[in-house]
Order: sequence, then C-alpha cells, then structure tokens
Amino acid sequence: MTNEPTEWSDDLHLGVESLDDDHKKLVELICAWCDAVTSGRDLVATDGLFKDLLDFAREHFKAEEAEMEVHAYEDSDFHRREHEALIARLDDTFRAIYANAQYDLAAESIDFVRDWAASHIVTLDRQYAEFLKRQRV
Ligand SMILES: [Fe+2]
Ligand SMILES: [Fe+2]
Repeated sequence: MTNEPTEWSDDLHLGVESLDDDHKKLVELICAWCDAVTSGRDLVATDGLFKDLLDFAREHFKAEEAEMEVHAYEDSDFHRREHEALIARLDDTFRAIYANAQYDLAAESIDFVRDWAASHIVTLDRQYAEFLKRQRV
C-alpha cells in the first residue's frame, strides 16, 4: 500500500479547469475498476471498465499534448514521453490480465492502477499547470 490518493483529493487539484476536469474523470475511472475488482465483481466483466480507463487516458493525454503545442510548452517532449510510458505500462497490465485471461493478476495490480496517474499529476502535470497559470497573467 502507498500513501498516494485513491480518490480525488486536493493534492490532485491543479487550479486549471480543463486539466482538473479530465483528471477527476480519470480518477473516477481508476476507482471504478479498482472498486469492481475489490468488491469481487466477475473479473471477466471488469475488462470493459479497464478499457474505458485506457481509452480515456489516451484521449486525455492527446488533448493535454495538443494544448502544450498551442502554448509552446518547453517541456512538452519530456512530458509526452512520460505519457507514452504511462500508457505502455497500463496497456501491458491490461494485456497481462485480460488478453491472457490471468484474472488473478487483477487483484495484484490494484495498487499499481490506483497509483498509476497520481504521481504524474502531482509532478509533471503540476509543472505544466504552473506554466499555464504564468502564461495567463
Ligand atoms: Fe500529463
Ligand atoms: Fe494530465
């Protein structure tokens, strides 16, 4: 277990509405999958929740990267590579559990999935949010 937030919390609030709205949705999707697995829902049926999470994560990262282009954000290359690595890790987890039907891995992956986005939001996304806020003054 880690100390990372498991639900939306003030730690994750960045003060940029477009980012915060997407991050809230991301955290909701993460929690929906984690809750379904911990509450013993049919594990086969949780793959749709995981797919929703992956789809939304891809969509959010794409939108964030497009916005970085628009604002000529200086750290966008590094940030984009971090997004790619995050998606690759989540995709690997999805394949391990569902494509290979290793459903017992779902419970073992909960800590990873729950914490998967939080450390990115509180570090790189926070830096980007601060940049956006500086642009606006
Ligand atoms: Fe990001
Ligand atoms: Fe983000």
